[in-house]
Amino acid sequence: NNHKSDSRGALIVLEGLDRSGKTSQSSRLLSYLEGLGHSVESWRFPDRNTGVGQMISSYLANESQLDDHTIHLLFSANRWEKRSLMETKLRSGTTLIVDRYSFSGVAFSSAKGLDIEWCKAPEIGLLAPDLVLYLDIPPEKAAERGGYGGERYEQLEFQRKVAHSYQILRDGSWKTVNAWLPFDDVEKQLREMVLDSVTTCQKGKSLSKLWS
Ligand code: TMP
Repeated sequence: NNHKSDSRGALIVLEGLDRSGKTSQSSRLLSYLEGLGHSVESWRFPDRNTGVGQMISSYLANESQLDDHTIHLLFSANRWEKRSLMETKLRSGTTLIVDRYSFSGVAFSSAKGLDIEWCKAPEIGLLAPDLVLYLDIPPEKAAERGGYGGERYEQLEFQRKVAHSYQILRDGSWKTVNAWLPFDDVEKQLREMVLDSVTTCQKGKSLSKLWS
């Protein structure tokens, strides 16, 4: 394998509680990397555009009821249905900024009481991110921001449990940013981390799989 063929886009994931600022920061990062001339796309999970995604969306809107295990597997299936496209994009040199990924899957379902190892199992074999950015915010501060849209998980008490699950999941490779700092400060920190990862992947880095 020569190094040139190993050059690829970076898989960058943003994680955090609801209202931690992931979505706004994702779009800022997209413009930033585009401005530097990189090929980049912004993705999000759940991807509500697929058939599975529509089932997830109606569950979140409380328009349907599903067993906790069932919805967990649908969230996972929603990532599996995008897996090969994800690999194609990365190998063709496109960086993906992904708003939520397998870690949300495990954090939210285990916060309901499901066994954490059981939650991880269906994620095994999905592409491993090159960088996980954790937008850290106390649940109370996130709730104060308002704008909980009334979806199923958008309640302070549940978000506290999710924060605890994220703490268990986080390992040394995650980059944590204090997300209650002013928006521009958060953005500045994220830019540096993201650029670093994009450069590393450009130089050539092999793709690996979860759960490692
Ligand atoms: P969103 O607000 O980022 O679109 O996500 C919708 C909700 O779904 C959010 O409360 C987090 C939750 N979620 C899971 O429970 N499991 C998952 O795998 C993902 C991606 C999100």
